[in-house]
Amino acid sequence: MLKIGFIDSGIGGFSLLKEVNKNVGGCELKYIADNLNAPYGNKTREEVSSLVMNVVKNHLPIDTDVLVVACNTATVTALEELKDRYHFRVFGVSPQLKTPKSDGKKRTLLLATNRTVMENTEKYKEEGVFLYPTSGLATFIEKNYFNKDLLVGEIAKIRDSVLEYDIDSVVLGCTHYSFIRDVFQEVFGEGVAVYDDNKSVSCEIADYLAHISDVDCEASNEFSLVMTRENKQETEKYSEILKEIM
Ligand code: DGL
Repeated sequence: MLKIGFIDSGIGGFSLLKEVNKNVGGCELKYIADNLNAPYGNKTREEVSSLVMNVVKNHLPIDTDVLVVACNTATVTALEELKDRYHFRVFGVSPQLKTPKSDGKKRTLLLATNRTVMENTEKYKEEGVFLYPTSGLATFIEKNYFNKDLLVGEIAKIRDSVLEYDIDSVVLGCTHYSFIRDVFQEVFGEGVAVYDDNKSVSCEIADYLAHISDVDCEASNEFSLVMTRENKQETEKYSEILKEIM
């Protein structure tokens, strides 16, 4: 059985796990949530990179075939080092601006953690992208995943604070945000396109797996979860969410 590992600081990477679980079959999926060290987004580049290296070294079996860095913050800080250090294939997620060119009046809003925004400032400066660091939002989603009213209220605050910029598309640059993508779409409204990288990454992974092995898409996957901090309340919440998505 092919072994696929997923890492994130918490539930954000479930958004990608859900997509991959739909696209591949007969694989062992192992999800590692580094909830002990969450959130990643407010840490330095060196701190995030060292946490990611430790998670992989301590929790990922050496015979893993594919590692999915299901976290934008970890991707932007540690992807290259992971690729250099390990023999298995590594995929990451990063904010993709697959939006139609702006008409010069309207603008693209990129929502991401502080670290992801800081690491991408140069890249997007020229493209007229409005970079919006959302410190604390991943933690808020983590805590309030089951309380839709609270999520709507928090995202509405972001929408209201950018009303004057006439935003026509929103790029979700954090997997925690992708995990509640429907809420972003509802709050920003149908006139605003909401994008993330998850579909294209999961297709790339499925293509790669089909290339290296006979993947039986009809077969079900085996799944295991590791949390770097286990407490009853959090473990129960994660199990409940997993029941919903797998
Ligand atoms: N889910 C992670 C991301 O995609 C970040 C959450 C955090 O700040 O830990 O960036």
